[in-house]
Amino acid sequence: MKLEINQLKKSFGQLDILKSVSLKIGAGDVVALVGSSGSGKSTLLRCINLLETADSGELYLDDVHITFGMQHKIDGDLELNIRKKVGMVFQQFYLWPHLTVLDNLIKAPICVLKRQKLEAIAEAKQLLSKIDMLHKINSYPAQLSGGQQQRVAIARTLMMHPEIILFDEPTSALDPVMTQEVLKIIKKLANDGMTMIIATHEISFAREVASYAIFLEHGEIVEQGVAEQILVNPQTEKLQNFLHTVHK
Ligand SMILES: Nc1ncnc2c1ncn2[C@@H]1O[C@H](COP(=O)(O)OP(=O)(O)OP(=O)(O)O)[C@@H](O)[C@H]1O
Ligand SMILES: [Mg+2]
Repeated sequence: MKLEINQLKKSFGQLDILKSVSLKIGAGDVVALVGSSGSGKSTLLRCINLLETADSGELYLDDVHITFGMQHKIDGDLELNIRKKVGMVFQQFYLWPHLTVLDNLIKAPICVLKRQKLEAIAEAKQLLSKIDMLHKINSYPAQLSGGQQQRVAIARTLMMHPEIILFDEPTSALDPVMTQEVLKIIKKLANDGMTMIIATHEISFAREVASYAIFLEHGEIVEQGVAEQILVNPQTEKLQNFLHTVHK
């Protein structure tokens, strides 16, 4: 697995939201994406899985290569290819409310990946047991706590066997206890070698679990490096200031 982004730009109207962002991520890397509200974290993640189309720049994901720009129309097959490789977990969990936990997990693998139903059910049970949710297999999302819903949402993403998972503030809708439950799962995934980018405000978690950190401000990468280093000893004044405000 290799993800590379070169000079990615995205504007909304007159506003330049991403201003030439470049980064490289290798297999097993866990990257914390930090920055204040409005710095462009969600937009960057959404551009990587093509929920937004960048205005210019390039994206490489393994053997898939996309050049963004007016003159480059993105082929439907390429798009599907990227979507299959990239899993996404959002702040709001977006489970299907009319489906049970089990059906939430097996629907896309069966419909999109054409997996056998029995095989998908077996895998779903295994995953649910790993996240201590097997007892809720027949519950509906509304019958679960926020932390439980988020754990199911993560399991649903894993059912697609993504090469990389993008997390967009996976714990910011949760109370501290549920936050810990979800962070524990993400930590397990990191230990299992899953490649991840995690947009988060949980700086202590980022230090602990991320191998690498990227600090975004006004759509630009201001500082990046080994998470333990830059989140403890930031070199730029901007990152120093940011860390002061989040620790207040
Ligand atoms: N669809 C859109 N149309 C217009 N402006 C947008 C759109 N999406 C995002 N923006 C703007 O882009 C900027 C970056 O937004 P983004 O959601 O990427 O920030 P963020 O770093 O994820 O913030 P937060 O920490 O609050 O989630 C903001 O100024 C936002 O208002
Ligand atoms: Mg965001």
